[in-house]
Amino acid sequence: MKPGTISKLKAGAAALALTLLAAPVSAQTIKIGFLSTYSGPGAAQGDQLDKGAKLYLKLHADKLPPGVKVELIVRDDTGPNPDVAKRVAQELIVRDKVQFLTGLVWTPNAAAIAPLTKEAKVPFISMNAAGVNVLNMSPYMARVSFTLWQSCYPLGQWAAKKFKRVYTAVSDFAPGHEAEEAFTKGYKDGGGEIAGSVRIPLANPDFIPYMQRVKDAKPDAVFGFIPAGKQATAMMKAYGNLGMDKAGIKFIGPGDLTTDDELQNMGDVPLGVITVHHYSAAADRPANKAFVAAYKKEYGENLNPGFMAVGAWDAMDAIFYTIREQNGKVDPDKTMELLKEYKNPNSPRGPMSIDPETRDVINPEYLREVRKAGGRLANVEIETITTAIKDPFKEFNKKK
Ligand code: PHB
Repeated sequence: MKPGTISKLKAGAAALALTLLAAPVSAQTIKIGFLSTYSGPGAAQGDQLDKGAKLYLKLHADKLPPGVKVELIVRDDTGPNPDVAKRVAQELIVRDKVQFLTGLVWTPNAAAIAPLTKEAKVPFISMNAAGVNVLNMSPYMARVSFTLWQSCYPLGQWAAKKFKRVYTAVSDFAPGHEAEEAFTKGYKDGGGEIAGSVRIPLANPDFIPYMQRVKDAKPDAVFGFIPAGKQATAMMKAYGNLGMDKAGIKFIGPGDLTTDDELQNMGDVPLGVITVHHYSAAADRPANKAFVAAYKKEYGENLNPGFMAVGAWDAMDAIFYTIREQNGKVDPDKTMELLKEYKNPNSPRGPMSIDPETRDVINPEYLREVRKAGGRLANVEIETITTAIKDPFKEFNKKK
């Protein structure tokens, strides 16, 4: 031992004791870095995350161990902008010293922050970003939202029994490509014929020329995926304006197409649209009714929560679970172990859990039709396709 080490140790111990004595008993605050989209064309989606997360926090403060509080540190990623997301996540980790990261509408942003979560060992829970490969990029990432394979593969299987020829039209980014691949596999395996495929730019799309191309091919149905929200409304309007419904072309897709928060802005065009998804605000499960009532009470009677608000709500529930189980002293590795065993039988979507092998969500999936209920459009669940689907892409590609 070097001379002076003991006295340094003693001084260190005295300083530590002072810190402990000085610390107020209830001063344990866990910092959660929350990245969402508050500006640009994706702000409506970011708003859903914000509303779902904050509602959960407001209603569950008493679900933390005594003396433990959480602080949400909110940052704008400005849309699908990986560079901004990376910079902001870096600030949250280095400057704010957050113990959790969560949020994120966009897959490209999740991919950009993955290496940071790994280097800094900060657990990230995706509230939406759904890209199938993102979780492979860091062992400190888990997801409570969905993958496009979970909805689009079973929709493809269903469509094969109904339509001879389907045209696919998707946004040109990773989740769009995954929606196209998943639908095409389910549909072709069931004997369907793809009439054509088109990929639409993610930024500022004008849907008319793309939907015209679909119409000209005279398919029985068009399968569409675009980011939920305003783009879904624009695509739906193009479908209506071109008279595709009147031409007998059915519109089908994952629930992103007819999200509950946007449905009322689409006129009557979506009536009869068939989707597969894990969440509908119209579902009459008691947990969902309570969630929708709380959401409306907080944010206004005319506002419906969409699936992104539910993703945010469930992510906060998963985070609270890991904090409770560790009695407020969170360790990143222990947090990840706990996330792998997280289960919620009473999510607004129905039962959900995390697959311990992949850290991805296991979801229910429902077949839904847009109908009028109480004078308003609703995604009416007509069949439960499954109560627990693991991401089909990972299941198909499991190492033997
Ligand atoms: C994504 O970027 O992962 C994403 C965005 C919007 C959606 C679905 C997925 O509606």
